[in-house]
Amino acid sequence: MGAALLSTPDLLCNILSSLVREVGEKYEIGISVKIRLLKTEEETKTLVERLCKTGITGLTIHCRTREMRKTERAIREQLKMVGDVCREAGVACLMNGDVDDRAHAEKLASDYGVDGGMIATAAEKNPSIFRPVSEGGPAGWKEVVREYMIAALDVENRWGNTKFLLAQMMPGKEQGSRGLGQARNYEHVCQILDLDDLVEKAKGVDALLGTTERLTKAEQKAQAKATNPQGQKSKQKGNGKRKGNEERGHQETAADEPTTKRQKQEAPQPDANADYLTDLHQDIVAPAVVV
Ligand SMILES: Cc1cc2nc3c(=O)[nH]c(=O)nc-3n(C[C@H](O)[C@H](O)[C@H](O)COP(=O)(O)O)c2cc1C
Repeated sequence: MGAALLSTPDLLCNILSSLVREVGEKYEIGISVKIRLLKTEEETKTLVERLCKTGITGLTIHCRTREMRKTERAIREQLKMVGDVCREAGVACLMNGDVDDRAHAEKLASDYGVDGGMIATAAEKNPSIFRPVSEGGPAGWKEVVREYMIAALDVENRWGNTKFLLAQMMPGKEQGSRGLGQARNYEHVCQILDLDDLVEKAKGVDALLGTTERLTKAEQKAQAKATNPQGQKSKQKGNGKRKGNEERGHQETAADEPTTKRQKQEAPQPDANADYLTDLHQDIVAPAVVV
């Protein structure tokens, strides 16, 4: 489901009421919804009041309007009102959008009277941001990257996905000086990250995934030129692009990923993270309707 449902509140509420009746009550699980802000406080309030009457147990408010891009700072003006309406109705309220880490979420929750927060972008950069300050708080990038590499090797994670996430986790300067962009496979990336103790395992995973002899983009281009010197374009071009997105299993909603030129050029969003976020949301109150 997408943010389009924000403009068809009757349909949205019908879907939620049905989910509550047919799934929530039947299987004794909570149903939650995640929405964006509407343009005016009044409009958002009316919608939240209606949503709370459907029998949902949780509501996440992404503190951006449908028109706002994710690069625009989240706005908090309507947050207290949303929290108040939810509390009155006995519905748990989570806020989302530009939350940096656990301490920030706790502060925002207390300042605006909501029950907690949901974090996406910052968690992709540093999954340890959920660690409480009493247990050491967020870890530095080297520790995060090491833990991530251990997990990625353990599950033989797809190489392209691992490289994409490493690029989120490492500071840009480090990526440049260590040559992350040129990393061809697990073995190579372990070397450039000084993870010498993981190199042997990395070789095994590369062999399993077939990334042992992976070519760089420049090498791929040179090879393509050699086999197709006329530079004829592949008939499959359009399809190939689409397949790329499907392979990533991209699940963003229309509002979360506006289809402007600039957004299209941004780095791909791998499926693992979308799944992770959905799982995270479902952990709180499952299942969820996301808009
Ligand atoms: C990698 C990634 C995957 C996401 N997948 C979903 C999704 O499947 N459904 C959804 O409603 N929002 C999804 N979002 C949007 C987030 O839930 C969130 O609303 C948005 O990123 C704003 O929060 P943030 O500032 O903490 O990133 C995703 C965000 C990221 C970064």
